Amino acid sequence: QSAPVITVDGPSGAGKGTVCARLAQELNWQLLDSGALYRITGLASERKGLALGDSMNEQDEAAVADVAANLDVRFEPTPLGVKVILEGDDVTDQIRTEEVGSLASQVAALPAVREALLQRQRDFQTLPGVIADGRDMGTVVFPQAQVKVFLTASAEERGQRRYKQLTEKGFNASLPALIEDIRARDERDSNRAVAPLKPADDATMIDSTSMTIEEVCQQVMQLVKNAQ
Ligand code: C5P
Repeated sequence: QSAPVITVDGPSGAGKGTVCARLAQELNWQLLDSGALYRITGLASERKGLALGDSMNEQDEAAVADVAANLDVRFEPTPLGVKVILEGDDVTDQIRTEEVGSLASQVAALPAVREALLQRQRDFQTLPGVIADGRDMGTVVFPQAQVKVFLTASAEERGQRRYKQLTEKGFNASLPALIEDIRARDERDSNRAVAPLKPADDATMIDSTSMTIEEVCQQVMQLVKNAQ
C-alpha cells in the first residue's frame, strides 16, 4: 500500500509553507517543500554562472536541467526547522530571499528542469505519509493524492504577510514592491506553458485572506479526517 499524500498548492504567500510545516509536525509525516528545490536550482545555476531568463537558448536550458538533476543538496532537520545545505554551504536563509525566489520562478518555467525534479519529489512519498507544498503537487506530481487543497489569499494580504516575515528576520523590504513582485510572479506562474499554477479539478479551495493559520490547519485536518 502506498503512503498517503496531502497536496497543498497555491500562489506564494498564501500560507502554504507554515500550514504544511505544522501539519507535517502534527501528523509526523514527511514534508516536501517543492519550492525549495526550485529555489536551490535557481541559486546553484546562478552560482555556476549559467544564463537565465528570456534570452536562454536550448543549450542554456539543458545546462540548468543538468544542475537540477545533479543537485548536491542535503536537508538537515534541526529543532528550529530544516537546514538546507548546498554543496556543503548552509543556504537556508539565502534561498528565502526575493532575489532567489525570482531565480526559482525562472528555472521553474523550463520543462526540462521540471522533468529533472519530478522523481526527486515523488521519492518523498514514504510511510506514514507526505504533505506536499507547491504549485503542481495535486495536478502533476501527485495526481492520486487523497487530499488536495488549493490555498489562496489576496495579493495585498500576501504582500503584507511577506513584508512581516522579511522585516522580522531583519531583511529590508518595501511593501508596494513586494505586492508588485507577488503579482508578477503569480502572472508568470499562472501563464507558463508547463505545469501552470491552477487548482486540480478535485482540489478543495481555501481562501486564507481573513483566516488565521490555526483556522486553515483545522480545516485541512478536517479534510484529512474525512478522507480516512
Ligand atoms: O513556494 P516558493 O515561493 O518557495 O516557490 C518558488 C518558485 O518556485 C515559485 O514562484 C514557482 O515559480 C516555483 N515553483 C513551481 N512549482 C512548485 C513549487 C515552486 O513552479 N511545485
